[in-house]
Amino acid sequence: MGLVEFATSPWGQTVPIHIAFYLIWVAAIGGLAFLIVHAIYVQFFAKKEEFAPSAYPAQAAANVPAKVHRHTLASRLFHWVMSVAMFALLITAFLPRVGFPFDWVTYHWIAGLVLTASIVFHIIHASFWLDFWAIWPDSIDIEDAKRRWSRATGKSAPPPRKFAKYPMENKVYHLAILLSGLSVTLTGLFMMKRVRTPLFTRNPYIFGDMTWGLMYVLHGLAGVGLIGLIMAHVYFALRPEKFAITKSMVFGSVDREHYLEHHDPERWAPTSK
Ligand code: HEM
Repeated sequence: MGLVEFATSPWGQTVPIHIAFYLIWVAAIGGLAFLIVHAIYVQFFAKKEEFAPSAYPAQAAANVPAKVHRHTLASRLFHWVMSVAMFALLITAFLPRVGFPFDWVTYHWIAGLVLTASIVFHIIHASFWLDFWAIWPDSIDIEDAKRRWSRATGKSAPPPRKFAKYPMENKVYHLAILLSGLSVTLTGLFMMKRVRTPLFTRNPYIFGDMTWGLMYVLHGLAGVGLIGLIMAHVYFALRPEKFAITKSMVFGSVDREHYLEHHDPERWAPTSK
């Protein structure tokens, strides 16, 4: 039972054709197991997170706006357009493989183009209008991750500092989504040359069988990876302690209390707009 399915090309070469589709179940069941284990851990074993005291003066903390701005309208619209496209892609790609066959390919590539356009928008928007570096782990995040690990494994270490705009786990998640998202979009755009669309002439001969096979495999692997990533994302978004962040993706801001409890104003300056 391999990870990839192979076929014999007209020239007698053994070539990969796509992933083995039982991986859909591996991702879904693995994702579910992670959620259950995490929920039990938080409920029964996790200690309340302790942060190092901030150097931010108490006086200034009182002046933090009641609603601290977190996401622009453009960022929120991007997020929700991307999420609709992502769900449409997962549903059209995987439902036919798990016993609900339908004519999925056209819906799939249309959703794929919406996702691709939203990602292109996001890259330009984040590079020129947002703080591009806010989402990448910095040296403080890495040092604090080591401190957290030491403390969780019973060694002595100073408490970690409060977060900048994005906690370390959100930054790592963004990196995983970036890699899988770029893999599905770049391969998906080429794969459109193999299917009939009204946009251009179909031409399956731009690549050889081996290249096509590897492309389908990468597309499929990144796709099943996204099943687990999206499950984890929705689970964390619905967890009570993270719900303030989810609300900020609808309304644009977090409350002062949430901000002061989790974020260091020295690392992420509070603004009301
Ligand atoms: C969440 C993102 C995505 C997932 C989970 C996903 C999943 C899949 C899967 C499992 C297949 C079947 C591959 C196979 O038979 O080996 C597929 C095919 C395909 N996908 Fe995606 N995909 C995603 C994004 C995209 C994007 C962004 C595009 C286009 C821009 C795209 C275009 C296509 C095309 C053209 C096919 C080929 C259909 C065929 O050959 O019959 N996909 N996708």
